[in-house]
Amino acid sequence: MLNETPEWQALEAHAAAMKGRHIAGLFAADPKRFENFSLAHDGILLDYSRHLADAETMKLLFALARSNDLEGWRDKMFAGRKINSTENRAVLHTALRAPESSTVTVDDENVMPFVHDTLRRMEQFSDAVRSGTWTGHSGKAIKTVINIGIGGSDLGPRMVCDALKWDRDSDITVRFVSNIDPCDLALALADADPETTLFIIASKTFTTQETLANAQAAKDWLLAALGDETAVAKHFCALSTNEQAVRAFGIDPANMFPFKDWVGGRYSLWSAIGLPICIANGFARFRRLLDGAQAMDRHFQDEPLDRNMPVILALLGLWCRNFMGADALAVLPYAQDLKLFVSWLQQLDMESNGKSVDRDGAPVSYGTGPVIFGQPGTNGQHAFHQQLHQGPAMIPCEFIGVLHSRKPQDNHHDILLAHMAAQSQALMQGRGLEQSGDNPHRVCPGNRPSATILLDRLDAYHLGQLLALYEHKVFVQGIIWGINSFDQWGVELGKALASDILLNAKNSAVHSLTGYIRENS
Ligand code: F6P
Repeated sequence: MLNETPEWQALEAHAAAMKGRHIAGLFAADPKRFENFSLAHDGILLDYSRHLADAETMKLLFALARSNDLEGWRDKMFAGRKINSTENRAVLHTALRAPESSTVTVDDENVMPFVHDTLRRMEQFSDAVRSGTWTGHSGKAIKTVINIGIGGSDLGPRMVCDALKWDRDSDITVRFVSNIDPCDLALALADADPETTLFIIASKTFTTQETLANAQAAKDWLLAALGDETAVAKHFCALSTNEQAVRAFGIDPANMFPFKDWVGGRYSLWSAIGLPICIANGFARFRRLLDGAQAMDRHFQDEPLDRNMPVILALLGLWCRNFMGADALAVLPYAQDLKLFVSWLQQLDMESNGKSVDRDGAPVSYGTGPVIFGQPGTNGQHAFHQQLHQGPAMIPCEFIGVLHSRKPQDNHHDILLAHMAAQSQALMQGRGLEQSGDNPHRVCPGNRPSATILLDRLDAYHLGQLLALYEHKVFVQGIIWGINSFDQWGVELGKALASDILLNAKNSAVHSLTGYIRENS
């Protein structure tokens, strides 16, 4: 078991000593602490100087990573080996952003021609929709695009479209519907014109109940207005791995953009699932997003562990989780344009690493993925930061800032970044009893760790880097915890129960919450 290894136990002993130290003291002891505990690469800075960690901590963490063959597992992932063992699948979202000249083989087949053929089709289709060459059934250009999907088939493209909204250069409105709550679809359709609306049905499996129900309602809406089944061909396209189900739904496979089962749902925004990004922002920007992610892939593959951003971020997360006793992680983008980032990250991290058995199915006896939460600053400061500063639990924070604003306005951006710096400073230094005028209510314990990620700017390239940075962080942690980060069996249970409850509610009275709902709705 991982926590019985000498590398783990060395970290436990070291943690006991470190708990008696103060981050501010580490700064006092090392005038070059910022230089020594930060890393700049290709327009991103990772400052990890405000963790309760010293050179010895990092040395022991790298040793833990090596003893769990992190580099070997990383190479297996990039090479297309079937590391998703419970589903016997490769894990190849990295191939989606790799150059066409590279070779990545799954089941004896080089997947790169398929990846780039699909990209070319996405380019042609999104260009046609944006230019008005692709028209609806009655010959009118498309004005509204509605993506219907949930989880990974929604959160990634929704977040990217929102983050890159300043780059939009077309009049087409792109909306996202995910929830089975009928209000979600109703709102998206409220002012949409069936003649000029294109639906993208995004579902890896094309079996997800919420997505198929919303897609059917959208089809009914369209046909009620246009009255001709052949209209579906001009108003519906599908992003999926399941051609049979797409066909059964009534979408011509000519309008289907495929991807493969080696793309996990929460890793799929780089695949055909990125089509709404191409329509909203143009294919060239989608390509820049892929390029940014690819640059981070190369960094992750090529840099030694002690100069490797995802590795360092992951190891310090693990340090806080397993050795400093943190159950949660606050992720705090000081960028309003990243307001959907944490929702995307919650699925990425919690669906990947919220596991309690190891790769062999044995229960783990240490903490795995933390609870991830957060909101953009400064909004969060006026909501939940109080607990970060004075609550009894230590919650590590990851701040994400952007150096150059997309919309400079007086000194607003300077104020924003000053607040971000002040928060990590306050978490670290706290406020003692004396400074608090002997008022215990004002005391902040301090010594609370944080890291800061600073992007030069929030454009497609840097966003691609940031997302890939977190994907690899999650990968590193999963490998060290010895879990399979690429399945999600826990989600299946609720899906099955929902179907049972629906059937029961239709067929018989249920003396429970479901019965109450049935009687009263
Ligand atoms: O919530 C579970 C899940 O399987 C996610 O992993 C996935 O992103 C989501 O459902 C949607 O699945 P699909 O793209 O197959 O509709």
